[in-house]
Amino acid sequence: MDGIDLSGGSNESPQLSKYCIQPPSFPRGCLAPHAKPIKQAVRIPVLVAGRIVEPQDAEAVLASGSADFVSVGRALYADPHWCNKAFGKIRAPIRRCIACNVCFERLTLEKDVSCVQNPMIGTEFEALEYAEPQLFPAPAAGRRRVLVLGGGVAGMEAARVLKGRGHDVEVWEKRNQLGGQVPLAVASPDKAEVEAVWTYRWETVQALGVPVRLGVDADLEAICTFAPDHIVVATGAKPAAPPIDLSGLSNKVRVLHAWDVLSDLEAVRPGLRVTIVGGGMVGVETADALRVRGASITVLERQDLMAVGMARNNRLELMERLAADGVALITECRILGVQGERVEIQRKGGPVESLPVGDWLVFATGPKPQRDIMETVQASGVPYTCIGDCAVPGDFLAAIRDGWMAALLMDQVSSRNGRAGEERLVKTEERKS
Ligand SMILES: Cc1cc2nc3c(=O)[nH]c(=O)nc-3n(C[C@H](O)[C@H](O)[C@H](O)COP(=O)(O)OP(=O)(O)OC[C@H]3O[C@@H](n4cnc5c(N)ncnc54)[C@H](O)[C@@H]3O)c2cc1C
Ligand SMILES: Cc1cc2nc3c(=O)[nH]c(=O)nc-3n(C[C@H](O)[C@H](O)[C@H](O)COP(=O)(O)O)c2cc1C
Ligand code: SF4
Repeated sequence: MDGIDLSGGSNESPQLSKYCIQPPSFPRGCLAPHAKPIKQAVRIPVLVAGRIVEPQDAEAVLASGSADFVSVGRALYADPHWCNKAFGKIRAPIRRCIACNVCFERLTLEKDVSCVQNPMIGTEFEALEYAEPQLFPAPAAGRRRVLVLGGGVAGMEAARVLKGRGHDVEVWEKRNQLGGQVPLAVASPDKAEVEAVWTYRWETVQALGVPVRLGVDADLEAICTFAPDHIVVATGAKPAAPPIDLSGLSNKVRVLHAWDVLSDLEAVRPGLRVTIVGGGMVGVETADALRVRGASITVLERQDLMAVGMARNNRLELMERLAADGVALITECRILGVQGERVEIQRKGGPVESLPVGDWLVFATGPKPQRDIMETVQASGVPYTCIGDCAVPGDFLAAIRDGWMAALLMDQVSSRNGRAGEERLVKTEERKS
């Protein structure tokens, strides 16, 4: 044997899989302490994998004397130029892996292995000139004036790539705060790594000097004055109305959307009794955020599985800690109605049950596209593209993919004087030759 490359767990077992492809609860370089005794016992090179996300994580593993080399997996999906960035050969921030495990989940579901931070993985558009277009001379032709409406991840990704390709771009955000749903997405335990989805884009957009205007409620006059060739509509989503009749509910029960809860967790006091309707990813993450603040929680889910959209390694761990802390997780549950301070439910094939709602009734039943601006955009006559949640409420992968693709395609759209873009995207074969 010439060397030992160490990993953990096994993907053949749902219980052990998380030790191999770790969720964010595992610290950076998590397998290094287990590698150290092996490294000390042998005279051949030892390599170790596991949550090496940034170059300093690799340095820390090496400095601890746990291994001679590091193995880097997911960090290279998220940013295939990680090594050259780490060694300063490419001067651009690293797109950090957020340990969401969507890549592995997709593999398990026999889909393509895509990446939330790098949806272009494995395609020609993953090449450096499309991933970091600001590092290359802007295409000579096809320069467009583009207005991006919405300062969430989708809008910021579009702005990053548009500016990098040499377009004249400005971002207008309606609120006085950027990031869209990012603060909600990072509010629950073990979600802090997700912030990297935002920081990479925002840091780059700032470095490129893209004008970003806050508190702008765009009207027709403002759009016409800006005179864009194209509008990228990235206005995200908003909470949908509760899907059940609440007229019989006691006014002692507070009705909230999960977004309200996550944006004001300070309001949660120990002992608060909460029923959450909807056990998708947002519902169970909201339960987790409430759990750590001492609330007593019931989650009602129609399907036979909670957090269906979450990668299994992350989901299993989250479900285990919710159950261990006494959160009542009721699947295959139909809500028949609410009356007074009680909710009537029926589990699959079971009798009708009446449960106390508690102090709060929280809906995590999904958002709907935020398209209030569409009438104004259409009235302007400017061609437009809807991206991210305002096209279809989804996830960061879709938001980033949409923003990236919309920006790359902008070279091809017509300018205001009707001239079609002359610069076209270079095909892989041409680039190689
Ligand atoms: C609790 C929670 C957890 C989540 N966790 C994950 C996760 O772990 N992984 C994942 O992939 N996805 C997750 N998501 C989903 C993800 O956050 C969204 O899919 C993503 O943020 C959508 O990005 P967006 O830019 O399209 O929209 P948004 O983030 O909604 O941004 C839209 C922006 O447009 C602004 N805007 C609205 N109207 C106007 C207007 N007229 N003019 C200008 N600006 C306007 C809004 O103020 C907002 O800033 C989560 C969502 C929630 C709520
Ligand atoms: C999509 C995907 C597929 C993987 N397939 C295997 C595999 O077939 N065998 C294996 O031993 N490890 C596999 N792994 C685990 C990685 O090799 C690595 O040990 C693990 O992801 C932890 O390192 P990282 O944090 O650098 O990604 C896989 C990981 C991912 C994300
Ligand atoms: S999909 Fe998520 S876990 Fe997989 S490499 Fe990308 S950011 Fe990391």
